[in-house]
Amino acid sequence: MEKTWWKESVVYQIYPRSFCDSNGDGIGDLNGITQKMDYLKELGIDVIWLSPVYESPNDDNGYDISNYQGIMKEFGTMEDFDRMLHAAHERSIRIVMDLVVNHTSDEHPWFMESRSSKDSPYRDYYIWKEAKDGKAPNNWGSCFGGSAWKYDPATDMYFLHMFSQKQPDLNWENPQVRKEVFDMMDWWCQKGIDGFRMDVISMISKDQAFPDGEIKETGYGDYGPYVCNGPRVHEYLQEMNQIVLSKYDLLTVGECAGVTIEEAKKYANLDGSELNMIFQFEHMDLDGGETFKWNEKKIRLTELKATLTKWQNELYDKAWNSLYWCNHDQPRIVSRLGNDSKQYREVSAKMLATCLHMMQGTPYIYQGEELGMTNVPFPTLDEFRDIESINAYHEYTQSGQIAKADMFRYLCYKSRDNARTPMQWDDTKHAGFTTGTPWIMVNPNYQHINAREQVAREDSVFHYYQKLIKLRKQHDVILYGTYQLLLPDDPNLYVYTRTLGEEQLLVICNFTDQEQTFPLPSDWRPEHINLLIGNYFTNKPAEPTIPLLPYEARVYYQTTVQ
Ligand code: GLC
Ligand code: CA
Repeated sequence: MEKTWWKESVVYQIYPRSFCDSNGDGIGDLNGITQKMDYLKELGIDVIWLSPVYESPNDDNGYDISNYQGIMKEFGTMEDFDRMLHAAHERSIRIVMDLVVNHTSDEHPWFMESRSSKDSPYRDYYIWKEAKDGKAPNNWGSCFGGSAWKYDPATDMYFLHMFSQKQPDLNWENPQVRKEVFDMMDWWCQKGIDGFRMDVISMISKDQAFPDGEIKETGYGDYGPYVCNGPRVHEYLQEMNQIVLSKYDLLTVGECAGVTIEEAKKYANLDGSELNMIFQFEHMDLDGGETFKWNEKKIRLTELKATLTKWQNELYDKAWNSLYWCNHDQPRIVSRLGNDSKQYREVSAKMLATCLHMMQGTPYIYQGEELGMTNVPFPTLDEFRDIESINAYHEYTQSGQIAKADMFRYLCYKSRDNARTPMQWDDTKHAGFTTGTPWIMVNPNYQHINAREQVAREDSVFHYYQKLIKLRKQHDVILYGTYQLLLPDDPNLYVYTRTLGEEQLLVICNFTDQEQTFPLPSDWRPEHINLLIGNYFTNKPAEPTIPLLPYEARVYYQTTVQ
């Protein structure tokens, strides 16, 4: 397999609004990121993925862009951006930008022009349709609730918005739109950025018949078959690749809602014709249900193993995986798959990290994950800021599908705001995030969970992540080895091997709060294997049957070369 830097990197995602506030207005900013560059260097990451920092009215925290070539005033200036980029590059850290081009803000000049008149040269930049039988053009529901169409009285037509009403979808069928997007991307590449994370890129090509979808529990039709991995998406990405991506040395990762293995092999084909890798959602959606993600279901370990194993094995040598538990759209993993009690928070956070980072693919760490940050005990609905959560609360409680008290608990468990409370830097007021009033509440557990404490203590979650990142640089088997799942039906243990030539890893993770045992397979002789990393022990000879403590993780290493 061809070796490239983006296969060998570890990426760290920054959600700028919540990372570090340098000027006391309660909102994280670019200078705050620059101040923390040494912290990231110490952790050892190679690449930063920066959630959007462009001008935006913030209906969806920057994922609604009104100027692709300007910096959001709250975050600073273009000079601040350049300084941050320079500070990163000085430390050999690359910067990957979020590219949000399925939609813009309704305050983007293109849209303001477009909605002004049917004859505007910008009309076709967006997707406009006439009413059908006095109603919306079709029955699609938007991802943030309600219809995906909004009526605009100015021209007596509807425009499509797959997300909020302030996020109108761009019309990729229009070659002029594609040219504008590619020119803008080129401009950022010329500036010296190192890649793009492409927001909901699997949704840019819509079935031009715009057919009604199958009615779902919400009463709206399912847009999935007509929007996700749409008819021309690969053509568009190949064009983007030829015109922009192939001219630079970039990391590209596509956020691909609804992606299948077959589609992934096209998006992330190793031939380099589209993107380097994609984010799939199957493992994160295992606890979804009739009311979308709003429930308290626990993911079954056997299903998690089957899903991740499928992605590991079926993309091997064909396309590249990305590995993640967390991002700005997901609740905290230690509260979801681990155990956030005082007793087990740290060991379970380390176990989950081990399980993910020993797999094949490029790992992504979301800010605070490296501290074992947890979900947030939101006291009231007023503390939520996320448009998806707030809309869903009203939609599901008003329709009577979910009782208010239940829905509130579901938000506390699943809301995206769990990931968006401020980064916990130290135990001073507001967790050292700001000297002002933070835009969203701070998790009250900052007094014992914070970066200062974690960095100072050798056996912390932070140092464990640091060690995992180092190991990835030392052992090619972690990067390029094949993967094999053992014990697929075991409900408690996740065990797999990685193999590359003479090198082999055995990864053993206990996903429960109970002690377990694991009998070593016969080709793993206790006297020939060494513990590479573990969350309870740093040095532990193997025994024929390995006893495992609650949430214990061990990685054994063997080589056939003596
Ligand atoms: C992606 C982003 C999410 C955003 C949505 C619309 O899923 O990750 O945060 O709300 O796209 O841009
Ligand atoms: Ca600020």
